[in-house]
Amino acid sequence: MRAADIQSELTEILVTEEEIAAKLEEIAARVAEDYAGKDLLLVGVLKGAVMVMADFSRHLPASVPMDWMAVSSYGAGTKSSGVVQIRKDLDTDLHDKHVLIVEDIIDSGLTLSWLLENFASRGAASIEVFALLRKPDAAKVQVDCKYVGFDIPNEFVIGYGLDYAEQYRNLRDVAILAPHVYS
Ligand code: PRP
Repeated sequence: MRAADIQSELTEILVTEEEIAAKLEEIAARVAEDYAGKDLLLVGVLKGAVMVMADFSRHLPASVPMDWMAVSSYGAGTKSSGVVQIRKDLDTDLHDKHVLIVEDIIDSGLTLSWLLENFASRGAASIEVFALLRKPDAAKVQVDCKYVGFDIPNEFVIGYGLDYAEQYRNLRDVAILAPHVYS
Protein backbone atom coordinates (compact mmCIF):
# COMPACT_ATOMS: atom_id res chain seq x y z
CA MET A 1 0.00 0.00 0.00
CA ARG A 2 1.30 3.43 -0.94
CA ALA A 3 0.39 6.76 0.70
CA ALA A 4 -1.62 7.68 -2.39
CA ASP A 5 -3.94 4.73 -1.72
CA ILE A 6 -5.08 6.21 1.61
CA GLN A 7 -4.61 9.91 0.95
CA SER A 8 -7.68 11.00 2.93
CA GLU A 9 -6.32 9.33 6.08
CA LEU A 10 -3.01 11.21 5.97
CA THR A 11 -2.01 14.82 6.38
CA GLU A 12 1.56 14.61 5.09
CA ILE A 13 4.01 12.11 3.65
CA LEU A 14 7.24 12.44 5.61
CA VAL A 15 9.48 9.81 4.01
CA THR A 16 8.75 7.93 0.81
CA GLU A 17 9.49 4.30 0.08
CA GLU A 18 12.20 5.41 -2.36
CA GLU A 19 13.87 7.65 0.23
CA ILE A 20 13.81 4.81 2.76
CA ALA A 21 15.36 2.37 0.27
CA ALA A 22 18.19 4.79 -0.58
CA LYS A 23 18.87 5.47 3.10
CA LEU A 24 18.92 1.78 4.00
CA GLU A 25 21.43 1.10 1.25
CA GLU A 26 23.64 3.92 2.50
CA ILE A 27 23.51 2.81 6.13
CA ALA A 28 24.05 -0.85 5.21
CA ALA A 29 27.25 0.15 3.40
CA ARG A 30 28.47 1.97 6.53
CA VAL A 31 27.54 -0.96 8.76
CA ALA A 32 29.26 -3.46 6.43
CA GLU A 33 32.44 -1.43 6.63
CA ASP A 34 32.25 -0.74 10.38
CA TYR A 35 31.64 -4.41 11.23
CA ALA A 36 33.95 -6.08 8.69
CA GLY A 37 35.52 -9.15 10.31
CA LYS A 38 33.40 -8.78 13.44
CA ASP A 39 30.86 -11.19 14.88
CA LEU A 40 27.77 -9.05 14.20
CA LEU A 41 24.28 -9.86 15.49
CA LEU A 42 21.24 -7.85 14.41
CA VAL A 43 18.55 -7.54 17.07
CA GLY A 44 15.11 -6.37 15.98
CA VAL A 45 12.48 -5.03 18.34
CA LEU A 46 9.04 -6.38 17.47
CA LYS A 47 6.78 -5.51 15.91
CA GLY A 48 7.62 -2.17 14.36
CA ALA A 49 11.16 -3.08 13.28
CA VAL A 50 10.10 -5.97 11.04
CA MET A 51 10.08 -3.92 7.82
CA VAL A 52 13.33 -2.09 8.45
CA MET A 53 15.08 -5.31 9.53
CA ALA A 54 13.88 -7.16 6.42
CA ASP A 55 15.00 -4.48 3.99
CA PHE A 56 18.14 -3.32 5.80
CA SER A 57 19.55 -6.80 6.43
CA ARG A 58 19.15 -7.74 2.77
CA HIS A 59 21.34 -4.78 1.76
CA LEU A 60 24.24 -6.24 3.74
CA PRO A 61 26.79 -8.04 1.56
CA ALA A 62 27.47 -10.89 3.99
CA SER A 63 25.40 -13.37 5.96
CA VAL A 64 24.38 -11.93 9.32
CA PRO A 65 22.34 -13.63 12.04
CA MET A 66 19.30 -11.84 13.43
CA ASP A 67 17.33 -12.25 16.61
CA TRP A 68 14.22 -10.59 18.00
CA MET A 69 12.99 -9.08 21.24
CA ALA A 70 9.36 -8.38 22.01
CA VAL A 71 8.85 -5.83 24.75
CA SER A 72 5.88 -3.95 25.99
CA SER A 73 5.10 -1.25 28.42
CA TYR A 74 3.19 -1.87 31.64
CA GLY A 75 -0.16 -0.23 30.91
CA ALA A 76 -0.82 3.23 29.62
CA GLY A 77 1.59 5.03 31.92
CA THR A 78 4.72 3.13 31.07
CA LYS A 79 5.85 5.10 28.08
CA SER A 80 6.56 7.86 30.55
CA SER A 81 7.81 5.62 33.35
CA GLY A 82 10.17 3.75 31.06
CA VAL A 83 9.30 0.42 32.67
CA VAL A 84 9.39 -2.31 30.07
CA GLN A 85 8.29 -5.94 30.19
CA ILE A 86 10.00 -8.62 28.10
CA ARG A 87 7.38 -10.59 26.13
CA LYS A 88 9.93 -12.53 24.13
CA ASP A 89 13.57 -12.62 25.02
CA LEU A 90 16.49 -13.22 22.67
CA ASP A 91 17.36 -16.81 21.72
CA THR A 92 21.01 -15.80 21.33
CA ASP A 93 23.73 -15.55 23.96
CA LEU A 94 25.19 -12.07 23.49
CA HIS A 95 28.58 -13.00 24.91
CA ASP A 96 31.36 -11.56 22.69
CA LYS A 97 28.84 -10.56 20.01
CA HIS A 98 28.82 -7.16 18.35
CA VAL A 99 25.15 -6.28 18.73
CA LEU A 100 23.35 -3.84 16.47
CA ILE A 101 19.82 -3.09 17.68
CA VAL A 102 17.53 -2.31 14.75
CA GLU A 103 14.56 -0.07 15.54
CA ASP A 104 11.89 1.60 13.47
CA ILE A 105 11.66 4.69 15.68
CA ILE A 106 13.07 6.41 18.72
CA ASP A 107 10.26 8.44 20.23
CA SER A 108 10.79 9.22 23.93
CA GLY A 109 13.89 7.00 23.90
CA LEU A 110 12.66 5.09 26.95
CA THR A 111 12.37 1.68 25.26
CA LEU A 112 15.89 1.78 23.90
CA SER A 113 17.41 3.21 27.00
CA TRP A 114 15.88 0.33 28.98
CA LEU A 115 17.04 -2.22 26.37
CA LEU A 116 20.58 -0.87 26.31
CA GLU A 117 20.79 -1.17 30.07
CA ASN A 118 19.32 -4.69 29.94
CA PHE A 119 21.80 -5.78 27.24
CA ALA A 120 24.78 -4.20 28.99
CA SER A 121 24.89 -7.01 31.53
CA ARG A 122 24.87 -9.80 28.92
CA GLY A 123 28.56 -9.70 27.97
CA ALA A 124 28.32 -8.29 24.45
CA ALA A 125 31.54 -7.06 22.87
CA SER A 126 29.71 -3.91 21.73
CA ILE A 127 26.15 -2.61 21.50
CA GLU A 128 25.05 0.02 18.98
CA VAL A 129 21.72 1.25 17.68
CA PHE A 130 20.31 1.82 14.22
CA ALA A 131 16.97 3.64 14.18
CA LEU A 132 15.31 4.42 10.88
CA LEU A 133 13.36 7.32 12.42
CA ARG A 134 13.97 9.58 15.38
CA LYS A 135 11.83 12.32 16.92
CA PRO A 136 14.31 14.71 18.54
CA ASP A 137 11.53 16.86 20.03
CA ALA A 138 9.95 13.89 21.83
CA ALA A 139 13.10 12.73 23.62
CA LYS A 140 12.74 12.16 27.35
CA VAL A 141 16.12 10.50 27.61
CA GLN A 142 19.09 10.76 25.31
CA VAL A 143 19.96 7.52 23.54
CA ASP A 144 23.31 7.11 21.90
CA CYS A 145 22.25 6.09 18.38
CA LYS A 146 25.12 5.41 15.96
CA TYR A 147 23.02 5.13 12.80
CA VAL A 148 19.93 7.30 12.23
CA GLY A 149 17.88 7.29 9.06
CA PHE A 150 15.69 10.39 9.37
CA ASP A 151 14.91 12.94 12.07
CA ILE A 152 11.19 13.68 11.92
CA PRO A 153 8.81 16.09 13.68
CA ASN A 154 6.94 15.09 16.83
CA GLU A 155 3.75 14.00 15.05
CA PHE A 156 1.62 10.84 15.02
CA VAL A 157 3.39 8.89 12.29
CA ILE A 158 2.44 5.58 10.73
CA GLY A 159 3.73 3.28 8.02
CA TYR A 160 6.77 1.14 7.29
CA GLY A 161 6.16 -0.90 10.45
CA LEU A 162 4.63 1.86 12.55
CA ASP A 163 1.01 1.34 13.48
CA TYR A 164 -2.11 2.96 14.77
CA ALA A 165 -4.16 0.25 16.58
CA GLU A 166 -2.23 -2.38 14.55
CA GLN A 167 -3.26 -0.76 11.26
CA TYR A 168 -1.03 0.90 8.64
CA ARG A 169 2.15 -1.14 9.31
CA ASN A 170 2.03 -2.28 5.67
CA LEU A 171 2.07 1.26 4.28
CA ARG A 172 5.29 1.52 2.25
CA ASP A 173 5.89 5.19 3.12
CA VAL A 174 6.04 7.01 6.47
CA ALA A 175 3.28 9.58 6.90
CA ILE A 176 1.45 11.68 9.47
CA LEU A 177 -1.94 10.20 10.35
CA ALA A 178 -4.85 12.62 9.94
CA PRO A 179 -6.38 13.51 13.34
CA HIS A 180 -9.91 12.55 12.17
CA VAL A 181 -8.75 8.91 12.06
CA TYR A 182 -7.91 8.71 15.77
CA SER A 183 -10.01 11.43 17.41
C1 PRP B 1 7.46 1.59 19.26
C2 PRP B 1 8.77 1.47 18.50
C3 PRP B 1 9.81 1.47 19.59
C4 PRP B 1 9.16 2.30 20.67
C5 PRP B 1 9.74 3.67 20.65
O1 PRP B 1 7.06 0.33 19.66
O2 PRP B 1 8.83 0.31 17.71
O3 PRP B 1 10.09 0.18 20.06
O4 PRP B 1 7.75 2.40 20.39
O5 PRP B 1 9.13 4.49 21.60
P1 PRP B 1 9.93 5.17 22.80
O6 PRP B 1 11.19 5.75 22.23
O7 PRP B 1 8.97 6.23 23.29
O8 PRP B 1 10.19 4.16 23.85
P2 PRP B 1 5.61 0.04 20.28
O9 PRP B 1 5.71 0.00 21.77
O10 PRP B 1 4.62 1.00 19.68
O11 PRP B 1 5.34 -1.45 19.79
P3 PRP B 1 5.26 -2.03 18.30
O12 PRP B 1 6.65 -1.93 17.70
O13 PRP B 1 4.83 -3.44 18.48
O14 PRP B 1 4.25 -1.20 17.53
